[in-house]
Amino acid sequence: MTVSATSFREGMSCLGAAVSLITSGGPEGRHGMTASAVCSITDSPPTLLVCVNQKNRSHDVFNGNGNLCVNVLAGRHVALADIFAGRGDTTRFETGNWMTLETGAPVLADAVAAFDCRIMERRAIGSHSVFYARVVGLLTSAQAAETVIWFDRRYHPLKAAVSEQSSLA
Ligand SMILES: Cc1cc2nc3c(=O)[nH]c(=O)nc-3n(C[C@H](O)[C@H](O)[C@H](O)COP(=O)(O)O)c2cc1C
Repeated sequence: MTVSATSFREGMSCLGAAVSLITSGGPEGRHGMTASAVCSITDSPPTLLVCVNQKNRSHDVFNGNGNLCVNVLAGRHVALADIFAGRGDTTRFETGNWMTLETGAPVLADAVAAFDCRIMERRAIGSHSVFYARVVGLLTSAQAAETVIWFDRRYHPLKAAVSEQSSLA
């Protein structure tokens, strides 16, 4: 059975995933993109992976700077997600409060969580590169009970049931 790229993409639209802004800063400048292909590898040492299309401008910026920050978004950040996917009218980094932690990669101050990483390795697979990144700085938010999921080619804001329970108590 041959699985076409179109049917693969159709299948992947059924796989809900968190939405993050992947940002980088340094000698190659500041840039970023919206991504759902982010995954934890191990907590010892804390390491994650991000899959980036080699055609994205961010690809060479990440590679050259050697750093990236995974800024996990909430429902309130959907407009920002569109801007960093190249869909908005506004330029990236014009909206939002940006700071830095360890690496110099831009960190969204009110992200649900931000993982500031040094890139350890890059592996090219087809159209994409997999960046293996060591987490060297971490920011977590008081509003972490909220997230946004990309599913069926749409954003789905989600609130943790536990916060509803505690608000009823
Ligand atoms: C919800 C969502 C998730 C995305 N996930 C990824 C991803 O995991 N990897 C990727 O390479 N592009 C992903 N994209 C597309 C990139 O955000 C987009 O191609 C990029 O911002 C283009 O930037 P550029 O114009 O600077 O090259 C996603 C877009 C959206 C809206």
